[in-house]
Amino acid sequence: MPQQTRRRVARPRRYLMCRPEHFDVTYSINPWMRPEKPTDTGIAVLQWERLRNLYLGLGHQVELIDPIPGLPDMVFAANGATVVDGRVLSARFRHEQRVPEGPAYLKWFADRGYTTRDAEFVNEGEGDYLVVGSRVLAGTGFRTDRRSHAEAAEFFGREVVPLELVDPRFYHLDTALAVLDDDEVMYYPAAFSAESREALRALYPDAVLADDHDAEVFGLNAVSDGKHVLLAQEAVGLADELVRRGFSPIGVDLSELLKSGGSAKCCTLELRGGPGQ
Ligand code: ARG
Repeated sequence: MPQQTRRRVARPRRYLMCRPEHFDVTYSINPWMRPEKPTDTGIAVLQWERLRNLYLGLGHQVELIDPIPGLPDMVFAANGATVVDGRVLSARFRHEQRVPEGPAYLKWFADRGYTTRDAEFVNEGEGDYLVVGSRVLAGTGFRTDRRSHAEAAEFFGREVVPLELVDPRFYHLDTALAVLDDDEVMYYPAAFSAESREALRALYPDAVLADDHDAEVFGLNAVSDGKHVLLAQEAVGLADELVRRGFSPIGVDLSELLKSGGSAKCCTLELRGGPGQ
């Protein structure tokens, strides 16, 4: 069936988020972060609250983890872990400034009775691990150690497809690729090595491709429930294409968080399965 006639069905999701009460840009570990530029924590909180309310309005559940002073990037919950079938692989951060976030998120899961694994290798959670149906796409190049991919494949018992990122502006997989549905993605080809571009073309020949502008405004840092796609409001080209394919894009303004190199997806960790689910 042609993509555009496909009926889109939203599946209710559970997300983990972290209110950006201590958000700031005090160090620089990606090209977007400029500590000399002012940030406004109040605006970050308001923008984040709107994102959370959108999820709630769409019928999704949002769990919260307490923000910790001194960890300004903890709002980026997607980096906190990877959760598949209720199994939690902890994050192990590349940069020392974010290292304490790994144990903080791991404790949240352990306290709630999830099956957890304290990761052996550096990996930044769903920043670099994206679940597409039964497969897991795995980024590497800037943050996640490629040895972590085998650890994830073994722990989750899923096929893990390595993808190499080559543009430092798109340092996590979730800045360059978004999962739309169990067999559909959208991505920015220039963020990937030639070999990985080839792999993506073979796996997803009908994928939505982002242009430079939409990738640069973080339009690919998007969250889909199978029908609604929350993405940066500036990514109008992607939004048009999503409408054409039967999705309902919802533009969000996360300009404060973009100063740290993050948008909607970065703030959102999907909880797949788990105790009582
Ligand atoms: N400042 C954070 C960092 O560089 C942003 C993380 C964004 N998160 C994401 N899932 N891409 O680590």
